[in-house]
This record gives sequence, C-alpha cells and structure tokens, in this order.
Amino acid sequence: MTQDELKTLVGQAALKYVQPGEVIGVGTGSTVNKFIDALATMRDHIPGAVSSSEATTARLKALGIPVFEANDVGELAVYIDGADEIDERGHMVKGGGAALTREKIVAAQSRLFVCIADESKLVKVLGTFPLPVEVIPMAAERLKRQFAEKGGQAAIRLKDGSPLVTDNGQFILDVTGLQIHDPRAFEAEVSQWPGVVTVGVFAYQKAGVCLLGTATGVRTLA
Ligand code: A5P
Repeated sequence: MTQDELKTLVGQAALKYVQPGEVIGVGTGSTVNKFIDALATMRDHIPGAVSSSEATTARLKALGIPVFEANDVGELAVYIDGADEIDERGHMVKGGGAALTREKIVAAQSRLFVCIADESKLVKVLGTFPLPVEVIPMAAERLKRQFAEKGGQAAIRLKDGSPLVTDNGQFILDVTGLQIHDPRAFEAEVSQWPGVVTVGVFAYQKAGVCLLGTATGVRTLA
C-alpha cells in the first residue's frame, strides 16, 4: 500500500470513534483530510466540529460539516488528528502543518485524543522530525540561542522566501538535533521560555489511542 492509501485507511478507521450527536474535534494535515472526507458520510449524524486550523475549517465547510467556535461548546468527547512522530506511549511531535497551537487547544478540550498516522510516524525516541515551535517573532533569535544550549539547531520556517506566518500571526521555529527522551519534562520546560507560544511536543495532550496504518492493516496502540 502507498503512504496515501495508508492515510485513507486510518482516516476511515477513525470513524468508529465518532459518536453520533456529539461535536467532534478535528486536527490538521493530509491524514486528517482523509478523515474529513470519511466524516462527510456521517454529517447528518453529528452537530458539527471544532476545527484546529483555517485549512481544516475550509475543508469541513466545503463538505457541509458545520464548524463551531471552541468557546461555544463544552468538553469534546474525541479529538482526531495526525502526528509527525509518535512513540509507543502516545507522546507526539506535531506542527509540521504549522497548526500546533490550535491543535493543542482543541486536544486539551477533548477527553480522548485519537491519533491517525501511517507506520512511518512511529519512533522509539522523539526528535528526528524537526520539532516545530510557534513563537512570538520578537523572541525568535533569543529562542534560537536557547535551543542551541540544548544541542538543537533552530531555524525560522520560511514560505516563499519570507517567514511563514501562522493562523495566529506568529512564526514557527523548526528545531533539529534533539533527542527528546523525557517528553513531559521537555514540554514543561520549553513551554515556559518567554516568547514560546506552543512547543510541538504533545506529552500532556498525548494520544490515548493511535490508529497506525500498516501494510497488513490498522494497528491500534492504546
Ligand atoms: C499539523 O500542524 C500537524 O500537527 C499535523 O497533524 C502533522 O503534521 C501530520 O500531518 P500529516 O498527516 O500531513 O502527515
């Protein structure tokens, strides 16, 4: 199976976590796009969704799925999203699509995080994928130095030659060279650095279930 087919497989498999009558939290990315396509078949059975990005909002609306503001709904039963890396314990690196802040917010509002990913995303130790960190622009250069002190090399993410600006009006640093052996401690520490909006380690909002697309079918990590 191709990577695209594996994404379709897990996107469809995630439908079993959608509870009729419940608003669902929806992440961002190419894997989630497959889930959104599948979710369209259930649109008459759910009130709608809380979205983690402008891109996801546009896709949901195009398929006739109503989108609610996070503040207008209470706790969500389930949040479904992809990951750039996930370990066996459900800790993740996210933010390859620059949507990490709203992803973490919607995940925090949800009782269960269901991660959908192809098997290439499963790692023993987080850190091979460049770690996305959303930052206030005026702090970017100092934060690059702080990551250097931890052995990381941080670069401002560019789009068309200029810094990429997130849905929240901020910049993304991508940090290479890290080996994140204690995701909770790392997330707690970096989240406190002045100027950091969101670090792309999801340890406090880790996945409760991961549906991993493999050549032999969907493997469930829980
Ligand atoms: C978006 O900011 C990310 O957190 C995505 O969830 C992550 O990059 C996975 O994306 P893909 O499903 O496109 O690999």
